Order: sequence, then structure tokens, then C-alpha cells
Amino acid sequence: MSLLEELYRETIMQHAQKPHNFGPLENPTVRVGGNNPSCGDQIELFLKLDGNVITEAGFTGHGCAISQSSASMMTDLIRGKTLDEALELERKFKAMVVEGQPPAPELGDLSALQGVAKLHARVKCATLAWNALEQAIEEVRSA
Ligand code: FES
Repeated sequence: MSLLEELYRETIMQHAQKPHNFGPLENPTVRVGGNNPSCGDQIELFLKLDGNVITEAGFTGHGCAISQSSASMMTDLIRGKTLDEALELERKFKAMVVEGQPPAPELGDLSALQGVAKLHARVKCATLAWNALEQAIEEVRSA
């Protein structure tokens, strides 16, 4: 394993073992559930908004190291972003893990998940939280 791969692995394990923003938010603006149909693992995502800006993000649920670390890093990254900026991050994250494109710099630590693009069965794990984010934004906009 290269040094870089080892660093990525360490980042993933740190977030999976001690996920950031784990726990429900009180009085969220929106709350959505999502699941990975291939394994049954679930996530619930909570967002608080001030106008168009995500001021807080949290999640609960259970899943593998990839899904938990992805949710942990995503909830760190989207705090303080507008809904459009969050959707743009989602697009860039999916371009990396679904299409195998190089990580966009804005993704920060999430670039640790770039190897998922070669592990097709794990793509649904990495995108679980992001699909919930997309659904949450849709719900806010259609309310
Ligand atoms: Fe279930 Fe990864 S194995 S989310």
C-alpha cells in the first residue's frame, strides 16, 4: 500500500470510528432518511437552514466504514454552504466516486474516498449520505 493510500485509509477509519456531527439535530429544517438497498444500512440526515444557507448538519444511522466516513466528512463540509453550493459538492463527489474523475480540491478530506470508484459494490455506500442530501434539498425547495 502506498503512503497516500495509507493516509486515505487512516482518514476513512478516523471518521468511521468517531464520526463528526453524529446525532439528531433539534428542530431541524429538514430531516430525511435513506438506505442502501444492497445491504439495508440506513442513514437519517438532519439539516438546519438559515434562508438558503446550511447552518447545521447531523446524521444518525448505521453502516460500514465507507458510508459512515462519507456522512461524517459530508456533514463537516456542507456546513456554511448554500443549497446550490452543497449540490455542486455533491456533483463533484459523485464525479469522483461514480465516474472515477480526479477529486476536486473543494472536496478536501473526501478525496480519501476516491478509491471507491474502483470498487463498484461500495459506490452505494459512499453515496448514501449524499443521496439523502439531494433529497433533503429537494424537500426544502418543494415545501
Ligand atoms: Fe452497507 Fe456500506 S455495506 S452502507
